[in-house]
Amino acid sequence: MRFVVASAVLAVTAFVSVACGSSAQTPQQIVDARIEDMKKLGANVKGTSQAATPAEAKAKIAEAIAFSETIAARFPKGTGIGDAGITKTRALQDIWAKPAEFKAAADKLTAILKDVGVAIDSGDKAKVEAAFSQVYPGCGGCHKPFRGPEH
Ligand code: HEC
Repeated sequence: MRFVVASAVLAVTAFVSVACGSSAQTPQQIVDARIEDMKKLGANVKGTSQAATPAEAKAKIAEAIAFSETIAARFPKGTGIGDAGITKTRALQDIWAKPAEFKAAADKLTAILKDVGVAIDSGDKAKVEAAFSQVYPGCGGCHKPFRGPEH
């Protein structure tokens, strides 16, 4: 129970910083901020798999979940490849042409990450590994259709 409370606090903190950070930003600043947060997502996912204790794993996955829940909102219209004021992004215009699919890919990742959290709570290593094996395919499920090539 203690871990659950700690994760909830973390999730709220992450959400508040996202909400504050997104006001009065230029389109490129929105892009830069979400790329930074995507990198943190990568670090939190990796940190979950390498955590020394279940509590540490739970804290990392909670941060990953908190960001994952904001992904769809981090891509406002006008922040993709070719949009005014955008000099660097890999966000394909299909994100806005197929918003339901994009949202579904984000929701899918959130569900996968939550499954990992539940598995950590169970204390069953095999369950954690099985749940975690879905995580990177969950990233790919969005990157493949919606992220352009590196520049
Ligand atoms: C719903 C869609 C979606 C999901 C799910 C998603 N990403 Fe991304 N990600 C993107 C898009 C789109 C970009 C490009 C953002 C930009 O350049 O503006 C991106 C960019 C990134 C970047 C920045 C480096 C770069 O320029 O490509 C990293 C790192 C990253 N994602 C990691 C992850 C990891 C790890 C996961 C899974 C745990 C994940 N992402 C899940 C859509 C997604």
